[in-house]
Amino acid sequence: MLALILENSDGNISRNIKSIDSSDLPAGEVVVDIAWSGINYKDALAITGKGKIIRHFPMVPGIDFAGKVQSSSDSRFAPGQAVLLTGWGVGENHWGGLAEQARISADWLVALPTGLSVRQAMILGTAGFTAMLCVMALEQGGITPASGDILVTGASGGVGSTAIAILSHLGYRVTAVSGRQSTHDYLRQLGAQHILPRADFSAVSRPLEKQRWSAAIDTVGGQVLASVLAQTAYGGVVAACGLAGDVALPTSVMPFILRNVRLQGVDSVMVPQAQRVTAWQRLQESLPAAFYQQVVNEVTLEQAADAAEQLLNNQLTGRTLVNIGG
Ligand SMILES: NC(=O)c1ccc[n+]([C@@H]2O[C@H](COP(=O)([O-])OP(=O)(O)OC[C@H]3O[C@@H](n4cnc5c(N)ncnc54)[C@H](OP(=O)(O)O)[C@@H]3O)[C@@H](O)[C@H]2O)c1
Repeated sequence: MLALILENSDGNISRNIKSIDSSDLPAGEVVVDIAWSGINYKDALAITGKGKIIRHFPMVPGIDFAGKVQSSSDSRFAPGQAVLLTGWGVGENHWGGLAEQARISADWLVALPTGLSVRQAMILGTAGFTAMLCVMALEQGGITPASGDILVTGASGGVGSTAIAILSHLGYRVTAVSGRQSTHDYLRQLGAQHILPRADFSAVSRPLEKQRWSAAIDTVGGQVLASVLAQTAYGGVVAACGLAGDVALPTSVMPFILRNVRLQGVDSVMVPQAQRVTAWQRLQESLPAAFYQQVVNEVTLEQAADAAEQLLNNQLTGRTLVNIGG
C-alpha cells in the first residue's frame, strides 16, 4: 500500500509517498480501504512542518477520511461497510488518512449514515462535522428558529459556510460576517439573509451593546468574538469553535452576568462517539443536495503535499479532497 510518510531529520520534515506493508500499520481492530481524505488547515501545518502538529515520526498525516472496511475483528464493523473517521488525534499521533489503508480502533469509526456517500462525507469533513456540533450546541441551549437572528462569523470558511447551509435549511434566519466582499454571492446561495463586514466586529466593543442576535457560531475568536458576545441578546447562546482571527478573548463578565449569555465551547477531536453518530446523521438530513455541488478541489495522494503548501499560501478556495480510491 502507498502512504504519504512524514519523517523528521534534525527538525527538517521530509514528505514522500512510500510503499509500505499493511502489517506496518499501527494497532487497531479495523482496517479501512480509504476512498477519500482531505487537506485541512491542520493537515497543511503538519505536512509542511509549519506547525507542531505531529507528536512522533514517522507519521502518516490526514485527520479525516472515508472508505470501506477491508477487515474487522470487532463485531460492530463488517467488510465492505462504508465508514468515516474524524479526530481522535488520527493524523497527529496515530497514522492517518493520506494512505491507501488505515488501521484504526473500532471505537473511533462512524458508520456512514444511509444516503451519504464517502465523497460527500469528505466534502463535509472535520469542518462540516464541527459546524453540525455548533448547531447542536445552540439547540442544546434552547435556541429554535423562533428565537431570532443567528450570526455566523468566518462565514466563508469550511465551518462557517456549512453552518450557514445547515441553519438555513433548518429554517433559521442567518446573518453572515465575512472579511471578503468576493464571497457575498456564495454566502447568499448558502442561505445567508444578511452579510456584515468583518470590520464591523473588529473594533474594541463596549462590554454590552445593542442586543442583536439570539445566538451565534463563532469560528474566529479574538475581538470578533468579544463583539459578538456584547451584541448577543438576553439568554442567547454563542458556540465558539475556532481561532481563525485570534486565540485571545478580550471580553468582560457583563454579557454573562447581566444578559444570561451562554458561551459554549465546541471541540470536534475528542467529542464522544454517541454525539458523533447523531451529528453525522443530522448532517445527512440537514443539507440539501445542492450543497454538495460546491466547488471542490480534487488532488491525488501524490499531489497532496503540494496542495498543503497551496492551502497555507491561500491559493485554494473551498474544500480540498484527496482521491485515494474513490
Ligand atoms: N474546535 C474544533 O474541533 C475545530 C474543528 C475544525 C476547525 N476548527 C477551527 O475553526 C476555525 C475555522 O475553521 P475552518 O475550517 O472554517 O477554517 P477556514 O476554512 O480557514 O476559514 C476560516 C475563516 O475565518 C475568516 N478569517 C480568516 N482569517 C481571519 C482573521 N485574521 N480574522 C478574522 N477572520 C478571519 C475567513 O472568513 P471570511 O473571509 O468569510 O471572513 C476564513 O474563511 C479555525 O480556527 C479552525 O482551527 C476547530
